[in-house]
Amino acid sequence: MKIVNTVEELRSIIKEWRKAGETIGLVPTMGYLHEGHQSLIKKAVEENTKVVVSVFVNPIQFGPTEDLATYPRDLDRDAKLCEETGASVVFHPEPEEMYYDDFCTYVDMDGLTKGLCGKTRPTHFRGVCTVVSKLFNITTPDKAYFGQKDAQQLAVIRRMVRDLNFPLEIVGCPIIREEDGLAKSSRNTYLNPEERQAALVLHRGLAAGEELVRGGEKSVSKVTSAIREIIENEPLAKIDYVEIVSWDGLDEISEIDGEVLCAIAVYIGKTRLIDNFIV
Ligand code: PAF
Repeated sequence: MKIVNTVEELRSIIKEWRKAGETIGLVPTMGYLHEGHQSLIKKAVEENTKVVVSVFVNPIQFGPTEDLATYPRDLDRDAKLCEETGASVVFHPEPEEMYYDDFCTYVDMDGLTKGLCGKTRPTHFRGVCTVVSKLFNITTPDKAYFGQKDAQQLAVIRRMVRDLNFPLEIVGCPIIREEDGLAKSSRNTYLNPEERQAALVLHRGLAAGEELVRGGEKSVSKVTSAIREIIENEPLAKIDYVEIVSWDGLDEISEIDGEVLCAIAVYIGKTRLIDNFIV
């Protein structure tokens, strides 16, 4: 497996692969890989003859007060995991390789990016859409893999691909959890032992909400109130949002009908965690 740092080198590898008739899967990540990422890489390896994993902490998707500087990084460990899982290339550019000093072109979206995480992270999805578009243009994958853990991101990328006619398929992959239910996330490393225990309240709240919905409850406010009540009982937890929206367009709804996304964001101490279910 190769580690590639420049766009030029990656492009020349891709050119050779295309000549040889290979199919290309892309797994975009910000590194500090865990079993959630590994499940995406595994799926990509199953479905393509070559797999590129990008490891790039994308500065433009972080707000000014967010954790860009402290975001965990460990390229050696990431490269080992990628190699063991069957990836062909790790693309690890420096920020200057991705963004010229006078970079000023962004991919932005209305609608789907405005609610949920978009309310507290108003520039986040512009950064995500821009970097993912760049990665699609550089890698020209047949398929790209994203986790359902970042459900809004998955819906946004699917819509972007449709709206801008990117010639590739987006594959959504299920949330991978720790044995006790906490959704795997690179940010879980920020939690001290007490916070790690408190963080289980996200899964507990969602599990109760899902049970209500599967039991036939149609009222969005009843389900979100039940989830809130459970989370509010945890002293270390502070709710950012608990919402149920339509899954296809992330539209606000009051009655549960068709496929819906129930998404939550909760601060445990200073760490903001997200989780969700789709029914
Ligand atoms: O989900 C992530 O890790 C990032 O948002 C992504 C898609 C790699 C873009 O930087």
